[in-house]
Amino acid sequence: METLFSPFRLKGLELKNRICVPPLVCYTWSDDTGRVSEKNIAHYRAIAQGGPGLIIQEATCISREGRLSGDQLGIWEDGQIEGLKKIVDAAHNEGCPIFIQLHHAGIMSIGEENLCPSDYSCEKNGKAKIGRAMTEEEIQQVKQQFVEAGRRAFAAGYDGIEIHGCHQYLLCQFFNTRINRRQDAYGREPSRLALEVYRGIRAATSPDYIIGIRLGAFEPTLADGIAHAREMEAAGLDFLDISYGFNGEDEPAAPPDFPYKDVIYGAGEIKKQVGIPVFAVNSIRSAEDAEGVLRETGVDMVDIGRGVLVNYDWAKDAAAGRDTGRCLDCKACQWRINPAKCPGRILHERRRTEKG
Ligand SMILES: Cc1cc2nc3c(=O)[nH]c(=O)nc-3n(C[C@H](O)[C@H](O)[C@H](O)COP(=O)(O)O)c2cc1C
Ligand code: SF4
Repeated sequence: METLFSPFRLKGLELKNRICVPPLVCYTWSDDTGRVSEKNIAHYRAIAQGGPGLIIQEATCISREGRLSGDQLGIWEDGQIEGLKKIVDAAHNEGCPIFIQLHHAGIMSIGEENLCPSDYSCEKNGKAKIGRAMTEEEIQQVKQQFVEAGRRAFAAGYDGIEIHGCHQYLLCQFFNTRINRRQDAYGREPSRLALEVYRGIRAATSPDYIIGIRLGAFEPTLADGIAHAREMEAAGLDFLDISYGFNGEDEPAAPPDFPYKDVIYGAGEIKKQVGIPVFAVNSIRSAEDAEGVLRETGVDMVDIGRGVLVNYDWAKDAAAGRDTGRCLDCKACQWRINPAKCPGRILHERRRTEKG
């Protein structure tokens, strides 16, 4: 595991290994105020104790209207900074850097009719989602909300920011020309809003601050994903965390013997085209998988998401050659709503107790 446990320098930040815990929303611990609770703090403390090189805090909403659920963590007002700072302190006290993911759900928000680049409707978890084309004024307002959230993240002491630009949410909807059919500059240049958000946050923070984005590898095609990645690099973003885009994307033709998810192949192809650090994610289950992804694709960091939900000590156990546990890939991950029911965690804890 030579590469996995080698240090990595991300701008001014020394990371002790290549393991990043990616954003993982865990509902039920906050409430309608979006404020941090003791359970959120304990969760991030436990993740930090588990030894990853970096944590990216879950999607934290920049406005009440853009929430994915009524109890999502928020960063839409200054009163939320104090609680967020406690998460930062908990991670730092365990020697782990932490970024925050800034999020607006767009058409996937909790309202009945939501913001979207164009009029668009789709279905999510059996429910109709209706998007209404944003006015130019609404675009400027959302941009300002992202920038204000960035200023708050900086004030709270996060080591960096990840802008959420994938997984069907607002900026992803702008990037994807199947959803964004606007005739104005925000339609002609699908990256425009994300780039303006980035520049606004940069101006509100500092030139040394780490600001990256989570992007879809195929938005809808791999060629689009690569083009977006290159634009982000040219604008000055510091890292790219590559995941899935809006659904219905064209998956890249990974060679038939490629042993990992197509999205990891996409991250590797993007890495070939950019000079900034690239993170890869999805279904990296074991330390061997993680080492293989780093070596075969040339990406700089691997995200271990559900693996860490099953076993907070995933990184430490991997380093010691112990059983890291295994996510059982449930059809609907229980963690979002009831961590106590995660079957992978139950099984791992039972095995650990049996081994004494
Ligand atoms: C419970 C849960 C919550 C998630 N929340 C977020 C989130 O807040 N932001 C995000 O970009 N992705 C989110 N994801 C996606 C993960 O970051 C990750 O990309 C995905 O789980 C695949 O990686 P894995 O196989 O290592 O778990 C979430 C996934 C799960 C299972
Ligand atoms: S075992 Fe199931 S509930 Fe637990 S992390 Fe994996 S998908 Fe989620």
